Amino acid sequence: MAKVPAQLLALQQAFASHFQQAHNMAFQAPGRVNLIGEHTDYNDGFVLPCAINFYTWVLARPNEQQKIRVLALDYQQQDEFELRFPIEPHPVYSWANYVRGVANSLLQQGYALKGGDIAISGNVPKGAGLSSSASLEVALGLCFSHLSGFVLSGRDNALNGQHAENHFVGCHCGIMDQLICALGQQHQALLIDTRSLTSTAVTIPDGLVVLIINSNVQRGLVDSAYNERRQQCEAAAQKLGIRALRDISYLELQQQQYKLSALEAKRARHVVSENDRTEQAAKALQQGDIRLLSRLMAQSHQSMQQDFEITVPAIDCLVQLVSIVIGQQGGVRMTGGGFGGCVVALLPEALVADVTALVKREYPKRTGLVADIFLCEASQGATRL
Ligand code: GLA
Repeated sequence: MAKVPAQLLALQQAFASHFQQAHNMAFQAPGRVNLIGEHTDYNDGFVLPCAINFYTWVLARPNEQQKIRVLALDYQQQDEFELRFPIEPHPVYSWANYVRGVANSLLQQGYALKGGDIAISGNVPKGAGLSSSASLEVALGLCFSHLSGFVLSGRDNALNGQHAENHFVGCHCGIMDQLICALGQQHQALLIDTRSLTSTAVTIPDGLVVLIINSNVQRGLVDSAYNERRQQCEAAAQKLGIRALRDISYLELQQQQYKLSALEAKRARHVVSENDRTEQAAKALQQGDIRLLSRLMAQSHQSMQQDFEITVPAIDCLVQLVSIVIGQQGGVRMTGGGFGGCVVALLPEALVADVTALVKREYPKRTGLVADIFLCEASQGATRL
């Protein structure tokens, strides 16, 4: 039997002592890392993420009342709200708005929710671009459906989490994070078509590992910069007369660039070229063509740096350090929404020690920051334990 993580054991104890009863349901949802396909999801494009073995855990027990009572163990804070639509946002705690938002979106769609006591904890690094929020939303969606006795498909759970994030929390994110947290598969990345929401599993070749390096850059105003990029892409699509940037080829974009401002043209160039790279990268992984993968990830990073302008110097520094060690034997790029967060590398396990040593030695010297390094496994999506 798999070992129960110490953090989950602590959560079980905290639930029992806080609610004076043991939980009788447990759920977990993973964080995620995106291998390639950045800022393509809200342009109806392609993404290639995998779920990772870092989790949010939610324990629950029905409480026979029309209310949710929540303990957030990591913050040592609690919340309580009635299950009556519309639910008001919490005046102070931002974590509580994920719980309220997920419940609110379910109620809005007509799901009959039943009350419950829940306790939450997790080890997905927060604010690092590894989708601790999507992981929480998806774990909660699963929890509410089981507490209330209805079936929520992984896809619908993901859409509900995204709805909560868009309308309750106020970040106009795409669907990638919630979908991979809900539907991830062990040892696989998923090539997701974010228009049709269909996905194809892509096995990560034996011998390659997923390394995530958190820059620990303090991220400020990320949501507003993110929302601004989204608006620029939508404005570009509108001027090009297409539904979304998914619907134009790179060649057509070059021909019609005159319709766009210089800034919109740069943004569109990133999205359109990134879509192509993502489909190519999925094929390269399938065929074990690591040199091609390496090139595509490098181009993706450069495009995010120069055309989409979402990297920061510390992130560029990490990418440069990792690529010195891995060369064409693996790929490395910034991952996630940008403005800090993490870089992801796919590389032979034998090179992990050298990458770690170089980053530990050089990154603090060059940036004054200390990075966290995580060796991850592509993991299963949300489950009831
Ligand atoms: C964030 C969003 C996603 C996606 C990425 C960028 O993680 O939540 O929907 O847009 O940024 O690829």
